[in-house]
Amino acid sequence: MRVLGIETSCDETAAAIVDDGRNIRSSVVASQSDLHARYGGVVPEIASRAHVDLINDVIAQSLVEAGTTLDEVDAVAAVHGPGLAGALLVGVSAAKAIAIATGRPYVGVNHHEAHVYAGLLEDPTLEPPFVTLVVSGGHTLLIAMDAHGSYRVLGQTVDDAAGEAFDKVARFLGLGYPGGPAIDRLALEGDRDAIAFPRPMLDDGNDFSFSGLKTAVVQYVRKHPDVEVADVAASFQAAVVDVLVTKLLRVAEESGVETLVIGGGVAANSELRTRLLDEGETNGLRVILPSISLCTDNAAMVASVAWWRLLADGPTPLDGGAYPGLKLGA
Ligand code: KG4
Ligand code: ZN
Repeated sequence: MRVLGIETSCDETAAAIVDDGRNIRSSVVASQSDLHARYGGVVPEIASRAHVDLINDVIAQSLVEAGTTLDEVDAVAAVHGPGLAGALLVGVSAAKAIAIATGRPYVGVNHHEAHVYAGLLEDPTLEPPFVTLVVSGGHTLLIAMDAHGSYRVLGQTVDDAAGEAFDKVARFLGLGYPGGPAIDRLALEGDRDAIAFPRPMLDDGNDFSFSGLKTAVVQYVRKHPDVEVADVAASFQAAVVDVLVTKLLRVAEESGVETLVIGGGVAANSELRTRLLDEGETNGLRVILPSISLCTDNAAMVASVAWWRLLADGPTPLDGGAYPGLKLGA
């Protein structure tokens, strides 16, 4: 079964063709980050308009690169939440229009679930149960996936998401947007032990808090204006990674699972990836690190989820909408 997936929940306009939930034939991503960079973050109205401008070309490109046509597509899927309302509506409307025009089923997909499925695209032998850390610009979630379609959210952020903290700290340090990749690069030149930033809520349950860490960075730099920016980047990144890795390992142990999966834009972070591989080796755990293009927002992961959802639950009714606050499992 060939699925066209569409992703427009934030600032990437993406379309992909995936066969049978696992075989990626094409994955096209048009990033809008240049448009938002001057504002230091995503501007919702600019994102919606850019999606409208880009969506038809991106879908056409995904068909060309896959060597297929809409006639050969068996289902059409789009992320219907969570995300920016206007941005989501562009992808949902495009998917429904194609579904109606071709007489194919439409499937609305949860964006978090899509990030979890990036792991299944990366490694075709991967099967639940496993625990996964979805870390992006909007979310920090620890999820146990017990079976296809069956999730338990074990922990989440009580304030800023991990990616949001990267973006805000980068902005404060004058490193531009998106901040995660900029801090990741600069941290390579710095000393991760130079500054002992706090590890918020490290031993306090499975939830996360990153807003105080961001404030600690701002206060430190104001007090020490001559500090090496690379040391600040490396020490901040070390604090975030310590917290993420410690909590992921802890829930894995509590859940008795032997496989860890990461997803979301922050899962592209080089220190997080290296640390998890090391910890996996030390603790005898299998660690699935999706390739960078599967970690950041893309539509292949959307088409993959849609295949499983279609088999399990059937199509989404065409009167379904866009759900900016959609929860996992809803
Ligand atoms: O999943 P994603 O592409 O979009 C959302 O759903 O939010 O994640 C984007 C987030 C941004 O906050 C960006 O700064 C962060 O992922 N990010 C990184 C890295 N690459 C992207 N954070 C840390 N290190 C990276 N290498
Ligand atoms: Zn995302």
